[in-house]
Amino acid sequence: MSLSVIILAAGQGTRMRSSLPKVLHPVGGSPMLQHVLNTAHGLEAEAIHVVYGHGGEQVLGSIHDESVVWVLQEEQLGTGHAVEQAMPGIADDHTVLILYGDVPLTRVETLRPLIEAAADGVALLTVELDPPTGYGRILRDDKGAVRAIIEEKDASETQQAITEVNTGMMAAPAGKLRRWLEALENNNAQGEYYLTDIIASAVADGVAVNAVRAASVIEVSGVNNRAQLAQMERAWQRRQAEAAMAAGATLLDPARFDVRGELVVGEDVTIDVNCVFEGRVVIGKRVHIGPNCFIRDAEIADDVTLLANTVIEEARVGAGSRVGPFSRLRPGAELAGDNHIGNFVEIKNSAIGEGSKVNHLSYIGDTSMGEGVNIGAGTITANYDGANKHRTTIEDQASTGSNSVLIAPVKVGKGATLGAATVLRKDAPEGQLTLTPTKQKSLEGWKRPEKKK
Ligand code: UD1
Ligand code: CA
Repeated sequence: MSLSVIILAAGQGTRMRSSLPKVLHPVGGSPMLQHVLNTAHGLEAEAIHVVYGHGGEQVLGSIHDESVVWVLQEEQLGTGHAVEQAMPGIADDHTVLILYGDVPLTRVETLRPLIEAAADGVALLTVELDPPTGYGRILRDDKGAVRAIIEEKDASETQQAITEVNTGMMAAPAGKLRRWLEALENNNAQGEYYLTDIIASAVADGVAVNAVRAASVIEVSGVNNRAQLAQMERAWQRRQAEAAMAAGATLLDPARFDVRGELVVGEDVTIDVNCVFEGRVVIGKRVHIGPNCFIRDAEIADDVTLLANTVIEEARVGAGSRVGPFSRLRPGAELAGDNHIGNFVEIKNSAIGEGSKVNHLSYIGDTSMGEGVNIGAGTITANYDGANKHRTTIEDQASTGSNSVLIAPVKVGKGATLGAATVLRKDAPEGQLTLTPTKQKSLEGWKRPEKKK
């Protein structure tokens, strides 16, 4: 049967104390609502309807998903009213699954049985919670059949003691759901149209109500404040850590490991504490990553060592290289392999040939560097004339002396050597030593100034 998912995301989220709509607060680097959309896509939903309201502009501007049907709920009159807003766009023969934009960690595997359980009636996802405070309670008869859901504010003391609660997630045939929603009334403690009241309607119509128990509380938990957001973040990160370990990575502390995007790791990778991975990061085999590294949208090939405090963004590190500590690879840095990049070295938009070394205190920008090059400490490519960027070429086996400045556009020929503190304004010929000498002099009789009394 075809599946239509309705995601409720119209609530304000007052307790977040934020100008950002609640469903846009990120978990693992992407908005909570995006996680729910990913889950809906994972279920191969034919249509996804998002009911939005508070912060509408911001929500529409932040979620880029062509397949979403956006449904505005102008006034938040209750969960039943919210679902009803999406129903005109859904055919009677669809199964409707209701999810929540602030419940980000529900897995596809948990929802599949719920959808299946809606084949012959209504299915609702329940969970055991003690204390059950704040949730709708599941009322069953003496044969154990579900009769209704009672909201806490409408519940008697005996009903409030029930620890099986409504997660809010439900699946139902669209045709019947439509009728039950149209019949909803708001004569309850909160004056809202409760989605939960459809259960009693189903029972009255003799339609089966199938309760599916969720295996874990975190999967059905919502976020109402920043403390719960932090818990959700840790739970998400724990999942990422488990996945990395399952793929063959040793994490020195899975609790100090953060993936805000997609991380692919090869076997026998070791990752020390406090590393953050953003965007899409692909790491090969036997890679060692030291503590406090930040890596975004990068490819790290086999047998690479990244030492402590290395920052890599939109760059590629070829096999067998050693980078860090305190190195910074910026967008467009492409290391061919077996490279050594050392402390306080910044590389931007440059190709570094195989085996070349930039070990200390250098800036290499807009450069094409050949193989086996040695860059002396403090070498700078002066790539910017204040208006335009220019390229530097450094050919195979060239070597630059400490504190050299290469004023681009300029070329250092194959096997050329630059003396220390060379200021290179013209190309350095192949195989030769190029110097820009400044005459050294010493002043006889010179006296060091003395401190005034
Ligand atoms: C709801 C359930 C309760 C369940 C609990 C689980 C009802 C009546 N009650 O209660 O049984 O235990 O969730 O968390 O359904 N929303 C809209 N538009 C509205 C109202 C709500 O989009 O008009 C969205 C909210 O943004 C929120 C979600 O629906 O994400 C739940 O609404 P909320 O008012 O928080 O319901 P609860 O009182 O928590
Ligand atoms: Ca709630």
